Amino acid sequence: MTTTTAAPKRLIVAITGATGAAYGLRLLQVLQETPGIETHLVVSDAGILNLQHELGMRLAELEILADVAHHVRDVGAIIASGSFQSDGMVVAPCSMRTLAAVAHGLSDNLITRAADVMIKERRRLILMVREAPLNLAHLRNMTSVTEMGGIIYPPTPVFYHRPQTIADIIDHTIGRIVDLLNIPNSLAPRWNGLAAENRPGPAGH
Ligand SMILES: Cc1cc2nc3c(=O)[nH]c(=O)nc-3n(C[C@H](O)[C@H](O)[C@H](O)COP(=O)(O)O)c2cc1C
Repeated sequence: MTTTTAAPKRLIVAITGATGAAYGLRLLQVLQETPGIETHLVVSDAGILNLQHELGMRLAELEILADVAHHVRDVGAIIASGSFQSDGMVVAPCSMRTLAAVAHGLSDNLITRAADVMIKERRRLILMVREAPLNLAHLRNMTSVTEMGGIIYPPTPVFYHRPQTIADIIDHTIGRIVDLLNIPNSLAPRWNGLAAENRPGPAGH
């Protein structure tokens, strides 16, 4: 009798120099804990700066969470080619510089090249863009990426689940990102409708 093993789901995670390195870190942790996922990590130079500034982490400490780590200037890496079969890519967080490069097909480093591959191969691309306020160039670039099939997912917090900690806020957002990758998860409570939310508990609260 032959047994077949499902091929791992291959996902690319990129971290760029927008604020919110914690989103990329949490995504990598979740993917590492999920069986059957192979992760490929790329971090931009500004992403490395923010990793250190916001989380006090060195790149090497992040890279051990991924199956494969690539250098951002290694445009000859396997993930730079459409022949490398991957299931999607998330840029978490995504700076306006990287958004602009993706929107205009620049492929000027491994992150923007891998994103370009996702678009041309019609694979899932999620950009967790972060800036405020947004200028017209930012808005137009988001429109371009959306028109090309990418998903713009700004990491905006929600409050309807009454988060108690920053970790709760991050988990809710990463739960939705993982949903978009079709990976089962229970990272955040799901909305059951207002009626269910307001139903009195066992003690009448
Ligand atoms: C502490 C810090 C926070 C930043 N936050 C943002 C941000 O939220 N959004 C953004 O678009 N750029 C932000 N930047 C600027 C980018 O890091 C900068 O534009 C950089 O060139 C982006 O390069 P990359 O896309 O290759 O990572 C920030 C920079 C620093 C140092």
